[in-house]
Amino acid sequence: MKLIAHLMLASSLTATVVCAMAQEMKPAAPVAAQTHAAAPAKASKPDLAKGEASFTAVCSACHGADGNSAIAANPKLAQQHPQYLLKQLQEFKSGRRDNAVMKGFASTLSDDDMRNIAYWLGSKQAQPGFAKDKQLIAMGERIYRGGIADRHVAACAGCHSPNGAGIPAQYPRVGGQHADYLLAQLTAFRDGVRQNSLPMTQVAAKLNDREIKAVADYIAGLR
Ligand code: HEC
Ligand code: HEC
Repeated sequence: MKLIAHLMLASSLTATVVCAMAQEMKPAAPVAAQTHAAAPAKASKPDLAKGEASFTAVCSACHGADGNSAIAANPKLAQQHPQYLLKQLQEFKSGRRDNAVMKGFASTLSDDDMRNIAYWLGSKQAQPGFAKDKQLIAMGERIYRGGIADRHVAACAGCHSPNGAGIPAQYPRVGGQHADYLLAQLTAFRDGVRQNSLPMTQVAAKLNDREIKAVADYIAGLR
């Protein structure tokens, strides 16, 4: 009886955590997606050819032909987890992630368009990047791998994985991303400009400019 009580407590705790996570991730990661790991939330398969066609017509000018943007302010999208891309597109459209340029483009897309584009991008190979700042690289590596213990900053590697590939579907790929874009996003999380992720707001809140610069540069070279 005692054992059963323990089990029930444990499972109700798990349920609470899952609910909390589902809320944080909404609307991109419904609970169903967690039970059927790779399957998309809706039954129909994404149409990769349609995704490629829409991306090529509209998005490639800024994000590169295969999703490997050559412009440091525009993120690389190739090989990013589709669920993450989908969440961002939905949140640009709804305004939860506030960006005037991307709101315009995301608003023209239906849910199916978003899904087709996101899964096509996920199938493309990401081009690696490079770290550039020799003076800051040790600091960047320390923060990425170990966090900052005395300020309770969690290690980035714990969620984004040691090589920056992320963990599908919850934690996006960051390795090889442009340092300028990473720096802008970390600063936006910290300053409350990007408000679509509580964990990242909490992580970034405790980083100063120099630490953000260091970790952004280190991540750009991760592969
Ligand atoms: C005029 C240039 C431009 C065009 C065209 C454009 N984007 Fe973007 N995109 C950006 C910029 C700049 C950002 C970074 C926004 C920010 O700072 O939050 C971005 C961000 C994104 C992100 C978030 C990536 C991440 O890592 O969080 C996604 C997804 C995205 N764009 C997809 C698209 C798609 C799909 C299209 C076509 C329908 C498109 N973009 C068209 C400039 C553009
Ligand atoms: C508790 C887990 C967790 C930790 C620890 C964490 N992150 Fe994140 N990070 C996330 C999640 C979840 C997202 C996706 C946010 C969203 O859905 O918009 C994210 C998004 C990001 C993004 C935006 C990516 C993009 O393409 O726009 C950057 C940059 C980033 N994290 C960097 C870091 C850095 C640097 C650290 C360490 C200082 C770190 N993260 C620690 C969970 C975490």
